Amino acid sequence: MTDELDGVRDHYRATGLTERLKTALSAFGPEHQRLTPQHLGVLDQFHTRGLAATAELAKLAGITADASVLDVGSGVGGPARFLAATYGCRVTGIDLSEPFVEAARYLTERTGQSGHVSFQCASALALPFDDGSFDIALLQHVAMNIADRARLYREIRRVLKTGGRFATFDVVTNGGEPYYPVPWARTPVTSFLMSAAATREAVEPAGFRTLICQDDSEAAKAWITQMRASGPPPSPNLSVVMGSDFAQLAANLGRNLLEGRLGILTAVFEAMPINS
Ligand SMILES: C[S@@+](CC[C@H](N)C(=O)[O-])C[C@H]1O[C@@H](n2cnc3c(N)ncnc32)[C@H](O)[C@@H]1O
Repeated sequence: MTDELDGVRDHYRATGLTERLKTALSAFGPEHQRLTPQHLGVLDQFHTRGLAATAELAKLAGITADASVLDVGSGVGGPARFLAATYGCRVTGIDLSEPFVEAARYLTERTGQSGHVSFQCASALALPFDDGSFDIALLQHVAMNIADRARLYREIRRVLKTGGRFATFDVVTNGGEPYYPVPWARTPVTSFLMSAAATREAVEPAGFRTLICQDDSEAAKAWITQMRASGPPPSPNLSVVMGSDFAQLAANLGRNLLEGRLGILTAVFEAMPINS
């Protein structure tokens, strides 16, 4: 497992990320100027359909101001900041990548949200929290980097309160072999895709009941088609985070979705009592 996690860490190594972000964000104004989650949405929502997808998932998860929310695989923190700004809830993010966690903290200072949003470097397979710590857990475009799904979903269930909700938005296989590199893996070695049905079959035994399970592939395809028509994205964009080959990674994801090799799953589960 360490090898597998090392491969994923390498993929998201992002050396010097915070310095690159400082330079890129000067496009929005001087360092002391407060930024909003909307400003940052062009580079901090690391999943298909960006900010719109986070907003939809949050609605489906039923987040409220008094909820304690965990974002598993929080990237550079865009979803966490959006949730805190929109609902007034407290959000904790964890991520395997140290440069991402450092960047997430920096961006959160820039939006003035450090009192409500915090980040830790940790593995989703060993969450550094007590049992029943959170009301809601989010997992967006992370599971495809994780082979041991049984352990991942057990860990998420463990840190949720009974009756809490787990909302996931992830890339799934439709049976076809994807073109690599893709945004989560430059080779198949760090890619562990599962079908939507297999994902649900892995989540439920961890102590969950399915509330919502929907195929969002068509919405993703429409988004890809629109992105293709509008040409290269303006700067700054996710290339700041992932490097100059990001356009190629994103193009391959688009091709995989449009050809039906990959799909997008949105699902929300309720945490059921666990028999100890
Ligand atoms: C495609 S990015 C998505 C980031 C974020 N969820 C978002 O939507 O903006 C995948 C993230 O998952 C993290 N990740 C992958 N495997 C992980 C693991 N085992 N534990 C914690 N984080 C992990 C990566 O470091 C990366 O930040």
